[in-house]
Amino acid sequence: MGEEEDEEEEVCKVVLLGESGVGKTCIISRFINNTFEEGLMSTNGASYASKISTFPEYENRTIKFEIWDTAGQEKYRALNQIFYKDASICILVYDVTSMISFKALQDYWCQQVKEQAPKNVVFGLAGNKCDLIEKEEVSEEMARNLAKEMNAIFETTSAAKNIGVEQLFHNVGCKYIDPNYKTNEDSTSDVKQRKLSEKKIKKNIKLDDKNNKDVNKKKKCC
Ligand code: GTP
Repeated sequence: MGEEEDEEEEVCKVVLLGESGVGKTCIISRFINNTFEEGLMSTNGASYASKISTFPEYENRTIKFEIWDTAGQEKYRALNQIFYKDASICILVYDVTSMISFKALQDYWCQQVKEQAPKNVVFGLAGNKCDLIEKEEVSEEMARNLAKEMNAIFETTSAAKNIGVEQLFHNVGCKYIDPNYKTNEDSTSDVKQRKLSEKKIKKNIKLDDKNNKDVNKKKKCC
């Protein structure tokens, strides 16, 4: 019975990447066990955990996330390639209180995954430790720009206070199922963009109308 169920599950390999101490292990513990432990030891090598999630918006499709927690320390960088080379989802994590951790994504990790991960990989960008807002060094705007560049799902998270973690995995899962998936935020900005374009078009139509009337007036005069 268990085996049959296993056969039906769609397996999706997820890899979390980012500098040491940004909170990758804590995000995974929050997602898998809904727990948070302070002062965890740095990950050596890599570790693995899994969770099955259901997506009601996609006919209750279930996905088994096989999640790889990689080590952020520089000495493990070569080893990490093994994990993202065949990943379906790569979640890049930075710490909102550390510009260094964000720069490391821009200068190293983004480049690496773009070159080495599969072409159809889904990217997530997580700004973790958002509970420490008073110490924030990386603005949401900066992060959103990077997310746009990477075509990544962006989420601010706090593994400590349980903010955004479930949403992050849900949204990357949706994009894995449906590459055209857009988060509410993305759709909102799309709607805004569309409304702006509509306004512009209406304004141009009015201008055209006015110009036509002026031309007609002139025609009548003559
Ligand atoms: P490496 O294993 O070295 O790559 O680090 P990591 O990215 O896995 O970081 P880890 O999850 O071990 O967390 C590092 C430290 O950040 C720990 O002391 C955590 O308690 C703390 N931490 C993680 N997430 C949060 C969070 O959301 N808020 C706060 N305030 N602290 C956090």
